[in-house]
Amino acid sequence: MNDTVASAPAAAVASPSGVLLHPSRGKVIAITSGKGGVGKTFLSANLAAALTRRGLRVLVLDADLGLANLDVVLNLYPKLTLHDVFSGRCTLDEAIVQAPGGFQVLLAGSGLVEYSRLTPEVREDFLRLMEQVVPRYDVVLLDTGAGISDVVLFALSLASEVLLVATPEPTSLTDAYATIKVLATQQRRQLVRLVVNQAARPGDGRAITAQLQAVLNRFVGGDGRAAPIRLVHMGDIPVDKAVREAVMRRQLLLLQAPGCPASLAVGQIAGRLVDTVLKPA
Ligand SMILES: Nc1ncnc2c1ncn2[C@@H]1O[C@H](COP(=O)(O)OP(=O)(O)OP(=O)(O)O)[C@@H](O)[C@H]1O
Ligand SMILES: [Mg+2]
Repeated sequence: MNDTVASAPAAAVASPSGVLLHPSRGKVIAITSGKGGVGKTFLSANLAAALTRRGLRVLVLDADLGLANLDVVLNLYPKLTLHDVFSGRCTLDEAIVQAPGGFQVLLAGSGLVEYSRLTPEVREDFLRLMEQVVPRYDVVLLDTGAGISDVVLFALSLASEVLLVATPEPTSLTDAYATIKVLATQQRRQLVRLVVNQAARPGDGRAITAQLQAVLNRFVGGDGRAAPIRLVHMGDIPVDKAVREAVMRRQLLLLQAPGCPASLAVGQIAGRLVDTVLKPA
């Protein structure tokens, strides 16, 4: 890590609910899902590469603390991980590694049970870590676990923007709905961004967003317990056999098959993020 290129620290302020927010920048983006295995890690890694290509300084943080696998997708064998930072065995700079797409990553290491539960220590460690890393990058992507466990919800509470990944399968959509509902009621979020992955047809994502929005309008936000929540469709990624091939080879799709339909779709989503969330204030 080169500290000399670091930008001025962004003001991290605690919201009334204790949530760490960076309202002026929108630069911590959590990538999450209701159902597991829908493509969060694939999207985090390739979105990071696409944003790097657009000139942004990007860190991907493996926030799936118990069952991390960003290292597998990126073919990295880290000697030092987030666990070593938290336990004081190494400094933050020693644990940050350069990924193939030109961005930086902080890997969690897998299978450490003590980090799969949200204890006060894990909360504190994580908050301190975020305060240190956020000012150094244009954007920090949090690759979270799936579902609505307290660890996942805590990671989401650290983000100024939530990018929810869902596939068109009914089970994925009902789980996505459950996640959005919790974000509206517990975190009082008013906006969630949706990416539909493994879309079968063009237009799938737009239709799915409209359907989910209709259900949310009907059942969430009408009873005073949560504000109305708005879903913003950020794009679709088609089913593409090149994705599986890249994952099997442990390569970034954007490097291995930059012209394939899924790569182009990830590039478009990066462009939309730059035009909205990551636009300089
Ligand atoms: N657009 C796509 N086309 C084809 N296959 C895909 C696509 N997106 C994801 N996949 C497949 O889905 C698998 C799971 O993706 P990934 O590991 O990113 O999911 P995840 O949401 O991070 O899972 P977990 O919840 O376990 O963390 C990939 O290994 C890949 O084979
Ligand atoms: Mg994952």
